[in-house]
Amino acid sequence: MPHASQRPADKPIVPRHVAIIMDGNGRWAKQRGLPRIEGHRRGVETVRTVTYAARDLGVRMLTLYAFSAENWNRPRAEVGALMGLLELYLKKELRTFVRDRVRLMTIGRIEDLPAGVRRHLAATVEETKGFTDYTLVLALNYGSRTEVADAARSYAAAVASGRERLDDGSWERFARHLYTFGMPDPDLVIRTSGETRVSNFLLLQAAYAEFIFTPVLWPDFTKVDLAAAIEDYSRRERRYGLTSEQVKPAKAAVK
Ligand code: FPP
Repeated sequence: MPHASQRPADKPIVPRHVAIIMDGNGRWAKQRGLPRIEGHRRGVETVRTVTYAARDLGVRMLTLYAFSAENWNRPRAEVGALMGLLELYLKKELRTFVRDRVRLMTIGRIEDLPAGVRRHLAATVEETKGFTDYTLVLALNYGSRTEVADAARSYAAAVASGRERLDDGSWERFARHLYTFGMPDPDLVIRTSGETRVSNFLLLQAAYAEFIFTPVLWPDFTKVDLAAAIEDYSRRERRYGLTSEQVKPAKAAVK
């Protein structure tokens, strides 16, 4: 059965939670004869724009895939530059988040990030934790497979200490050990740049999500593109394993 919060009758017109695989920074730069880092720098500007665009459009949670567990394998200079951009971004945004009541959360193996980034993240997460209207989640050093491995370890430890019971094998109990514990599942996942892969992003949480792949490169992605994706989403029928006929009365009930 779908989780109570995922029943078709609850389907919002605007997705509550949008998750984005931000792709195409490198190609954006290459098209202009610029170094890749310029694409990432421009990508940070898009992060700023889209954070507020999503909120204006009625989204309650936005998750951005900012650095994957596999991204460490990029050239050292690019990894260093990305971490530098991230630190600068966090330093600049803290006051803005507090002013605009944006809650910041993270998912991923944060403990492996450079100390400067961790320090800014911890401060921002702490200072914004009281905000409830809108949440920005940064997926950092994130990968679904490491998340599952970490969750399995955490679950096993909880069983060993009696906090979980081995005979309760439910998804709901297991999901409490994922990085996303307490967050709603994404309703809509967007990937920019024309690639049609999920790249180890929220594989379990997106089990019932709608997917939109757009050719727009991340640095060029605008509020108009986000609004178009949300419009497309709102026309889709989410069935959660049910038939179209079963879903329709529920859809009528929300009108
Ligand atoms: C993919 O483009 C993008 C990334 C690997 C990183 C995304 C990072 C940012 C937008 C900037 C940092 C984020 C924050 C929140 C400050 P790509 O390099 O894979 O592009 P390509 O496929 O065209 O080469």
